Amino acid sequence: MAKIKLSGGGGGFPMPMTLVGYEVGGKANFVAVAWVMRANQEPPMIAIAPGGRGRGFDIGGIVQNGAFSVNLPGIGLMEKTDYCALNPGEDVDKSGLFDIFYGELSGAPMIEQCPLCLECKLVQRLALPSHTLYIGEIVGLYAEEDSFFGGCPDPSLWRPFMLTRPDDLYWEIGARAGDAWFIGEDCGKKAAQKTPESLEKWLEDTQPGISAPEEP
Ligand SMILES: Cc1cc2nc3c(=O)[nH]c(=O)nc-3n(C[C@H](O)[C@H](O)[C@H](O)COP(=O)(O)O)c2cc1C
Repeated sequence: MAKIKLSGGGGGFPMPMTLVGYEVGGKANFVAVAWVMRANQEPPMIAIAPGGRGRGFDIGGIVQNGAFSVNLPGIGLMEKTDYCALNPGEDVDKSGLFDIFYGELSGAPMIEQCPLCLECKLVQRLALPSHTLYIGEIVGLYAEEDSFFGGCPDPSLWRPFMLTRPDDLYWEIGARAGDAWFIGEDCGKKAAQKTPESLEKWLEDTQPGISAPEEP
């Protein structure tokens, strides 16, 4: 396959859009952050790299409170998400943009309108040349019932979106494409599919008390 060499580091890499929440001066602030990844299994952790125009590195509120949230918006919140990117918290008060709720950490404001909200306790910081990587332990995970069909996220209901660069576009997730930890077993020799039994077993192991959804 012919390749072209792109300049810069992040071109072409699709990134999930999130809104990172933290408290500053007694108010909630929300930053649009695309640099985000799961980072540890047990305890569960997530890593984010929020900066802020002209500021680049330390976000005082996260450090002072030792807490932040990661909220995953659906496309219905695309405009507000972009607004949170275009407007630094130093210039505008973004605390009234969403309905806010809290879990156990007072420094981690979460967004009612987001189908998935992670409440995180700051456990580590890694200063990099332009940004700081914040690693948080996920102490609370709040999912909107209507977007999680039978305990499983259903992107067709929730409609999370991704960012690509350098074209600076938002993209919606497409159709279900395959069964992870499964389809590779025979390396494509047969069209493997999860069965209702295997899904039921997965739910039993990971989501006690929730049963598999009815086949549509
Ligand atoms: C689509 C999009 C994704 C962004 N992702 C990040 C990111 O991952 N890290 C970052 O530091 N800034 C990112 N930004 C920029 C911040 O959202 C922006 O600087 C914002 O104004 C900072 O808000 P604050 O001053 O309230 O913290 C992104 C901007 C856009 C438009």
